[in-house]
Amino acid sequence: MLTDQAEGLRKLARSTRRHARIVAIASGKGGVGKSNVAVNLAVRLSMMGRRVALLDADLGTANADVLCNVTPVCDLAHVVAGKGTLADAMLDAPGGFRLIPGASGLAKMAALGDFERASLIQQISQLEQDFDLILIDTGAGVSPNVLSFIFSADQLLVVTTPEPTAITDAYAVIKIVARQRANTDVRVLVNMVRDAEEGRGVFKRIDTVCRRFLRLSTQYAGHVVSDPRVSLAVRRRRPFTLDSPNCEASACIGQLAHRMDRHAIEPRGDGLLRRMAMWLAG
Ligand SMILES: Nc1ncnc2c1ncn2[C@@H]1O[C@H](COP(=O)(O)OP(=O)(O)OP(=O)(O)O)[C@@H](O)[C@H]1O
Ligand SMILES: [Mg+2]
Repeated sequence: MLTDQAEGLRKLARSTRRHARIVAIASGKGGVGKSNVAVNLAVRLSMMGRRVALLDADLGTANADVLCNVTPVCDLAHVVAGKGTLADAMLDAPGGFRLIPGASGLAKMAALGDFERASLIQQISQLEQDFDLILIDTGAGVSPNVLSFIFSADQLLVVTTPEPTAITDAYAVIKIVARQRANTDVRVLVNMVRDAEEGRGVFKRIDTVCRRFLRLSTQYAGHVVSDPRVSLAVRRRRPFTLDSPNCEASACIGQLAHRMDRHAIEPRGDGLLRRMAMWLAG
């Protein structure tokens, strides 16, 4: 079954030429700010002229649509049930990016079968032609669903905060990912910091442990300061980069977006389907 899937994906991979950079955003601990980072990076990068899609891949407690104050007609639950395509679900979001809403309150979405997962991955690959960047906001932790989104991406952005529990859980995610795919491009983003120095300190702790125990070096994506404007914007259901474009957190997102944009012109690796085919083939 997996070999058949791998062969099918490999065939499709050969026909795919240009492809978007895909970045999966994950964390060990919940509530560390993944969705806010994802939405606001999408806003900033699209304001810089990039074609950005944000896939809310949270299959239980999705909320990127709430942060953007848009009402999904069709969401990931419909797509997985075969009642629509990712393109049908796509909405125009504030700032100019395209949002594919995730599924909320559906316990049965918690575990996708192999077939559903493969068909979702194939649909994401069809978006590769139309976008420069596809951000995937995953749910917290590392379920098989989350892992398959991570392995479909070019890059894994692990979000943590300076709290010891968040740091430990971020390391746990990296460890699971590194065991399954040693050459994963892992970047660490430290959210809710006091200042830049605290962010770099947290990154160094994680990177040191990764080098020592996993023989994996991670890269520092950057930091976002803890800023009361963030929760104010959440309550207003507006991305904070639009609600308070000059606040400190927005300045941090601006820096991250510029850095990501520079990476976007680096030579790209394999397309999604080729990566998935290699992963499925083991
Ligand atoms: N930089 C920040 N400064 C202040 N508060 C923040 C910041 N980032 C996030 N928050 C707060 O943390 C809350 C949770 O953020 P968010 O929903 O983005 O986390 P998450 O990691 O996506 O959560 P989940 O794991 O449930 O998906 C926000 O509603 C906001 O109040
Ligand atoms: Mg979230």
